Amino acid sequence: MIRTCETNKNNCNPEQAQSVAWQKTNERREEMTENGQGRYSYRATLANAQKVNWRIEDIIGDDKRLDFSKPFMPESLARVEPLGFLRANEKRALNQIRGAAYLGIFGLVEEFILPFVLDHARPQLHGDDYRVRALLQFAGEEAKHIHLFKRFREEFERGFGHECAVIGPPEAIAQAVLAHDPLAVALTILHIEWMTQRHYLDSVKDDQSLDPQFKSLLKHHWMEEAQHAKLDTLMVEALARGRSDREIEAAVEEYLEIGGFLDAGLKQQVGFDLDAFTRATRRELNADEKDQFSRAQLQANRWTYLGSAMTHERVLATLENLSPAVRKRVEEVAPAFC
Ligand SMILES: [Fe+2]
Ligand SMILES: [Fe+2]
Repeated sequence: MIRTCETNKNNCNPEQAQSVAWQKTNERREEMTENGQGRYSYRATLANAQKVNWRIEDIIGDDKRLDFSKPFMPESLARVEPLGFLRANEKRALNQIRGAAYLGIFGLVEEFILPFVLDHARPQLHGDDYRVRALLQFAGEEAKHIHLFKRFREEFERGFGHECAVIGPPEAIAQAVLAHDPLAVALTILHIEWMTQRHYLDSVKDDQSLDPQFKSLLKHHWMEEAQHAKLDTLMVEALARGRSDREIEAAVEEYLEIGGFLDAGLKQQVGFDLDAFTRATRRELNADEKDQFSRAQLQANRWTYLGSAMTHERVLATLENLSPAVRKRVEEVAPAFC
């Protein structure tokens, strides 16, 4: 209803005004189907991506500094409070180590998302123009996120004063993941994108105790990931088309295998985080404390990277569309990671 005012403001002639109004109505219709039972659209997703597109230099560097007097991660993901034997400053250091690992692990998984999306786009470069542009925009944003997270790591290590190792190397992880059925990989990427949405909306957005700069990085990442989650849904649908129930079930088993592979990485990450904690705080935990630390932090990592996605309603809805049996399968496995 505000289209006439907008077109007047832009000094459009009546024909242009009609065209603009049509375009807006069409975009609105596409957005409406996005939130209902209908499919997402490449065109609406591309339009949203162009609206939110930001530059790295606008969100990190210069006066935009991390504040190490504040926690970086929401407690629901960090789960440092149950470690009652730690002092407040030690809990905060562990929280920040988890924050560094969080963006490090995102950088890592985006190293396999980027080639996967490019490979998915390439065979249809001469097809639907919106599809090609939306997928290339997606890939470009992941390349930007990888760059952003490298910039973050430089700033983090400078301010924190200690190196915090992250599992890898990214090339080896990408090679192992990409060796799987493309549908299993697309489901893994879908899992990661919805997980980002859930973390920000459920735990970060309204938490005023977090460092504003770290929160800003999560917010900007979330803004672009919102489009990725929709495009992943379309990629999963495209890759599942024409497959039998047995083939779908086999791909979902491979998705769970990738989850198991990532879980092994999370166990290793907890060890890295304990080393970084010991160096940063100079607190040598006794055997019982190390055991409590490792168990609590492994489950915190499992919830962060696995359980929070395997129980996400949009992930489950996409699985159900493939076959109710595969939704049930994932729902049965998920509690181990919550
Ligand atoms: Fe990303
Ligand atoms: Fe993404």
